[in-house]
Amino acid sequence: MTNIGAMLKSLQDPMGVPFYPLVFQVLLVITFALHIIFVNLVVGGVFMSVYGYFKKGGHYRPLAKSFAKATTINFSLLIVLGVAPLLFMQVIYDPFWYTSNVLSAAWMVGVVFALMAAFSFVYVFYLKITKERKHIGVWGVAAFLLIILVGVTMHAVSYQALFPEQWVRWYVGGSTADFSGTILHAFQLPRFLHFMVASFAITGIFMMVYSWYFKDRDDMDRSYLVWVGKAGAKMAVVFTVLQMAVGVWWLLSVPANFQFYKNPVFIAAGILAVVLLLVLIEAQSNPQRYALPTAGLALISVLGMTSAREALRVLYAGRYDYSVYSYKLNLSYGSTVLFAVTFLMGIVIVGYMLTVVFKMGRSSKPIDLSSLKLRTWSVYLMIAWVLMMIGIGVAIAS
Ligand code: HEM
Repeated sequence: MTNIGAMLKSLQDPMGVPFYPLVFQVLLVITFALHIIFVNLVVGGVFMSVYGYFKKGGHYRPLAKSFAKATTINFSLLIVLGVAPLLFMQVIYDPFWYTSNVLSAAWMVGVVFALMAAFSFVYVFYLKITKERKHIGVWGVAAFLLIILVGVTMHAVSYQALFPEQWVRWYVGGSTADFSGTILHAFQLPRFLHFMVASFAITGIFMMVYSWYFKDRDDMDRSYLVWVGKAGAKMAVVFTVLQMAVGVWWLLSVPANFQFYKNPVFIAAGILAVVLLLVLIEAQSNPQRYALPTAGLALISVLGMTSAREALRVLYAGRYDYSVYSYKLNLSYGSTVLFAVTFLMGIVIVGYMLTVVFKMGRSSKPIDLSSLKLRTWSVYLMIAWVLMMIGIGVAIAS
């Protein structure tokens, strides 16, 4: 084990990390939570649009169309929000992440093509269902299968990273070294299912929010919205129960000596999940009323779950005396301030865009957004940021 610990240390970036590792770890957990929520919305959204397409009758067709459209946007956000945890992980868990990627390199390169194909199929399905074309189910089914395949790859690569003592065996395999990268070496079904089953709970909550969001629009069918809200609330409660059962299965399959059931982060995540379930049970009578509190609570629960996942990784890595907190520190205030400023500016600008989209979608009539203060702030901040970047570029070059 000490040898493996030394190997992991030697694989770390000799330059060290530019800011306190805890900050990267917190950002990793937060951005991964956002990533996985959109993974859930895409898995559940594609499923519901294909299911609604095949069901045809009742309110299923309009629901299928809405999901097909929403999934094109959610898919883009899934990808963008995947990049952020990727970057933070590369900073503090680089020995694990890079080795695991190289061990299954063909799969990771394949993910890029699978993503492009899946995104295109989602789009084709959306365009065709909007035009009421026939025999289009194949596009949706193909997209769904590809998305699951990407999920399988992301899981295997995340999971096999946790077993550095196996890397050499996987790499050498008998008397010859395997440079192909064509094998996924480790897979843990309950962990994978924990991310997939959640898709249907999160999608159910999305349906509750959808029902609440459009309720004041006079061009929307009220009975349809009530139906969507009820169906979503039911789906959310059923799959939250299943999700908890799968969570217990996952807990039973982690190494017993971790005693993870005693871990305070895990206990907190478990309590949050129970509270979410209780609120969902209460929400069944009036899903529209409970939509926003439920969505907020779901976000907090997912954050609890991703924190517990990180606490588990800390334990796995700790077996080889690897701790992100002892990563060599090479403080760089300049790049940290630049990151923080860009991040805050991004929040204001994205906040502005979301406010516009939110207000416009809620009303069927034109609305006046000229008094929105965020607009002015966004423009000034953007100009200030561009000037700052040019200034830094000029300062570095001169
Ligand atoms: C359809 C597309 C995708 C699906 C279904 C998916 C699914 C998943 C799942 C299930 C995990 C958790 C694996 C585990 O812990 O066992 C995961 C982790 C991760 N995904 Fe995705 N993913 C997708 C696309 C992407 C993309 C495009 C990126 C990057 C650009 C990305 C970046 C990551 C990263 C960095 C992690 C690990 C985070 C960590 O360990 O803290 N994913 N993904």
